[in-house]
Amino acid sequence: MSNTVKLHDKEFEVFIGEDELKNINKDLGDLINKDYEGKMPIILSILNGSFIFAADLVRTFSFPLTIEFVRYSSYEGTESTGKITKILGLKTDIKGKDILIIEDIIDTGATLHQALKDLWSQEPRSIKVVSLLLKPDSLQHVVPVDYIGKSIPNDFVVGYGLDYDELGRDLPSIYKLKSE
Ligand code: IMP
Ligand code: MG
Repeated sequence: MSNTVKLHDKEFEVFIGEDELKNINKDLGDLINKDYEGKMPIILSILNGSFIFAADLVRTFSFPLTIEFVRYSSYEGTESTGKITKILGLKTDIKGKDILIIEDIIDTGATLHQALKDLWSQEPRSIKVVSLLLKPDSLQHVVPVDYIGKSIPNDFVVGYGLDYDELGRDLPSIYKLKSE
């Protein structure tokens, strides 16, 4: 894989390689396996960004689980619009169930904040959150994140499910916007 890629009008350079992503998944899996031993949570993957991370992460789990997908939209280009729209909702009754949310990245926290509000109103027993990436300097909401793969600076990143205007999701590594 090349060290730089061009998507639309912008150049990106490798930031988190495939080996590091594998190690992150393994470490998260070890922690999550301890906490969910003897349980059977509903895994909630937040589309579209988390689909590749979710696919890799659930394969490190050693407890029984079911998977659902929900979809919110907030991003246009490289900026969060702050306006969160739910596009695809849950099909299952989650009352009394343990929920584990899988997110690709928490930026302002607006998406997660909205998702948690929706989900808690349906009375699950517990909700935990795992996010591959977190941009701590960008947070605008107080959101509980139980497991974090890696905290990163405020750079725009793509690959491994994350997009720049829908391109780049298929890249096996994570790339960041190249500084001029
Ligand atoms: P938030 O609502 O601002 O926390 O943003 C959450 C969503 O925006 C994530 O689930 C991503 O889909 C998207 N997002 C945030 N930061 C980035 C980025 O650096 N690259 C690509 N997508 C991002
Ligand atoms: Mg996105």
